[in-house]
Amino acid sequence: MRIDILTVVPELLESPFNHSIIKRGVEKGLIEIHIHNIRDFSEDKHKKTDDYAFSGGAGMVMTIQPIESAINYLKSQRNYDEIIYTSPDGLLFDQKEANKLSLLGNMIILCGHYKGVDQRVREHLVTKEISIGDYVLTGGELAAAVIVDSVVRLVPGVLSDETSALTDSFQDQLLSPPVYTRPADYKGWKVPEILLSGNDKRITEWQEKQAYERTKRLRPGLLEED
Ligand code: ADE
Repeated sequence: MRIDILTVVPELLESPFNHSIIKRGVEKGLIEIHIHNIRDFSEDKHKKTDDYAFSGGAGMVMTIQPIESAINYLKSQRNYDEIIYTSPDGLLFDQKEANKLSLLGNMIILCGHYKGVDQRVREHLVTKEISIGDYVLTGGELAAAVIVDSVVRLVPGVLSDETSALTDSFQDQLLSPPVYTRPADYKGWKVPEILLSGNDKRITEWQEKQAYERTKRLRPGLLEED
């Protein structure tokens, strides 16, 4: 899988992909993540990437030209399955969408900034718009990092224990059961007896019950979704 991210603040994305699981996926050659500065594609003599809104008011709008040039450049190199725009008014991101995206070969993520992009970018260049939640971030970069993180860990081979993605919260519309590690008794705070029993079947039953009860208590809406 190859992900190309277009941003006006590439610095914001340097750190998230250089650690731990994502780094391992890159090192294993399973994923490629390329960050591009939209400014590098600007034909303006001051390398401007934004301008005032025709409608007036505070806040700048990202102009079409540098974004179109960046996308055209990438598309001339290879085909892309999706061109995603991160925006608070996009489709609400969830595990189902992460699963879908994890099956793609190549994708571009365009990070909105300031007041967002000129509407014509959304109409003519973008194929999917994603919001990571009903709140407004200062830019789409952190949203892009969230999307990439959740998608990349689903790519086969990225997680060392392949089954661990399957037992994630939400993967089957249930929250994960609680987990414990040593010591079995910390100052009187005890691990449930069943987990020390060594009886795998009973432990699995206990975990399923816990997952169901936790979901019912904390996120009942998940049990109603198809
Ligand atoms: N940009 C600003 N807020 C955002 C959000 N909630 N999701 C995606 N992109 C955003």
